[in-house]
Amino acid sequence: MKKRPLVIVTRRLPDVIETRMRELFDARLNHDDEPFTQAQLATAVAEADVLVPTVTDRIDAGLLGGAGENLKLIANFGNGVDNIDVQTALNRGITVTNTPGVLTEDTADMTMGLILAGPRRIAEGARVVPDEQEWNGWSPTWMLGRRIWGKRLGIVGMGRIGQAVARRAKAFGLSIHYHNRKRVSPSVEDALEATYWESLDQMLARMDIISVNCPHTPATYHLLSARRLKLLKRDAYVVNTARGEVVDEGALARMLEAGELAGAALDVFENEPAVNPKLVRLARQNKVVLLPHLGSATIEGRVDMGEKVIVNIKTFMDGHRPPDRVIPAML
Ligand code: 8YV
Repeated sequence: MKKRPLVIVTRRLPDVIETRMRELFDARLNHDDEPFTQAQLATAVAEADVLVPTVTDRIDAGLLGGAGENLKLIANFGNGVDNIDVQTALNRGITVTNTPGVLTEDTADMTMGLILAGPRRIAEGARVVPDEQEWNGWSPTWMLGRRIWGKRLGIVGMGRIGQAVARRAKAFGLSIHYHNRKRVSPSVEDALEATYWESLDQMLARMDIISVNCPHTPATYHLLSARRLKLLKRDAYVVNTARGEVVDEGALARMLEAGELAGAALDVFENEPAVNPKLVRLARQNKVVLLPHLGSATIEGRVDMGEKVIVNIKTFMDGHRPPDRVIPAML
């Protein structure tokens, strides 16, 4: 019988996924879900046939330098692969896969929630009763937010998730604007009644809400730089459910503190799990909404992601090209 591959999984996954992995592979699982240290990761890449990391693992060139001969596949549990030095992996003959598609709708739902949360003061309002602050009852002028309907939403990154956000936002009466490396097809633009902006700068200056939905790559690092953030209207909101690194977090925090922006709703941060203390302070003052990277956090989503990881490993081990190969053009 063919030896079963040693598959090392760095974080705890849903039970059904772990059970199936144990059936199919020689699976080494992480029952207590403690994130691996770099030293533990080094041991894992030295021993494994297949590594299943997540966004919390930094698989850099140094680490890959110590990869064993056996390591032939890194099957990332996640869509974004900015945690992995993919080029170095590919140069060493290691295939990299991810889990696209299955977290699109969940992430778009959370994005829509955050689009609403700032202007309609949802997080702030939700604290009033449980925090035992005095609620004197309804008043015509108390806790007024800003209307969503009729405003302009600028989507930065019109891929799968950006389009799913646009579909939802359109139903809320937002007009859809977007900037993307490539203009999307006329049929997609027509369906979303979306306006394409070749110039990100020009789009930023005219939007009421910006939603970041592009991957983090070398080209998108600090795409919303201090200079670009300054182009935004003073009453604009910034929503980010993509990656913290796409926005200059320090510059954003400074502008929010200075009252140069209406607000921000962020699910992702530049140095997770650390969050800029200024942002934390602003959240306590109800000037920003902060979520702990919950974009795709549904049980259905996690199971689908796990299924994708299994299919990628199984296909690869059976000698075929896995469906979700990461190729250099995606980086
Ligand atoms: C995942 C994500 O939770 O898949 C992604 O890119 O950002 C998240 O939704 C995480 O990456 C799992 O590794």
